[in-house]
Amino acid sequence: MAISEQTIERMRELAGLYPKSRSALLPMLHLVQSEQGEVTAEGIATCAKVLGLSPAEVTGVATFYTMYKRKPVGKHHIGVCTNTLCSVLGGDAVYDALSEHLGVGHNEPTADGGFSLERIECQAACTHAPVMTVDWEFMDDVTPASAIDVVERLARGERVESTRGPAIRDFQSTELSLAFPDDGLAHEGNSVDEKMLAGLRYAKEHNMSAPTAGQES
Ligand code: FES
Repeated sequence: MAISEQTIERMRELAGLYPKSRSALLPMLHLVQSEQGEVTAEGIATCAKVLGLSPAEVTGVATFYTMYKRKPVGKHHIGVCTNTLCSVLGGDAVYDALSEHLGVGHNEPTADGGFSLERIECQAACTHAPVMTVDWEFMDDVTPASAIDVVERLARGERVESTRGPAIRDFQSTELSLAFPDDGLAHEGNSVDEKMLAGLRYAKEHNMSAPTAGQES
C-alpha cells in the first residue's frame, strides 16, 4: 500500500510537535509501519522529504533500532524474550515451540502472513519471566503450551487479552499507537500486580529505603 496523503499530513503533524522536527523521526517510522507493515524505501523517502533529511540519514535510524522492520511483518508480531533470566526460566523452550508450531525462524513471517516470530531482548519484565509479547503487549509467565494456545486463538480470530494491557489488536494498530500514544487504551488491563510489588513490600517491612542522590553508601 502506498503512503497516503493522510499519512503524510500526520507526518507533518508529528514534525510540528518538536522544537527540532527531526526529533519526530522515530514516531514517523512507526507511522510508516502502521500503514505499510514495514519501513519501505518509499517510507524512508517520505520521512526524509517531510523532515528535510537525506534518505541515508533516515535509513541509518531505521536500520539501527530493531523495532523498525525492513521486510513485511505478519498480522501479529510475536516476540519471545530469550535474554538471560527468561532464557533460563524457559524462554528458549517457548521460542523453540513457537518456531516449530509456526514453521518460521527469527524475524520470519509465516507463509500466510498471519504471524512473525522474533527473539527479543530483555523487556524489563523479568518479574514475570519468561515473557512473550504479542504486537508488543505482554504475555507474562508463558510456557510452550500457553504460548501456542495464544497463537492458535489469534489464528481463529478469537479475542485475546494481554496479561497487563489492552486486548490484542494487530501489529499495524500497535504501530499507530506508538506514533500517536493517545489511543485511549492506557488504562486497560492491570499494569501492576502483587508479584511486581513484592520487592517494595519487602523493603517497607524491613524499613529499607533507596539512598538519595549523592549519599554515601
Ligand atoms: S530477561 Fe526477559 S524480560 Fe528481562
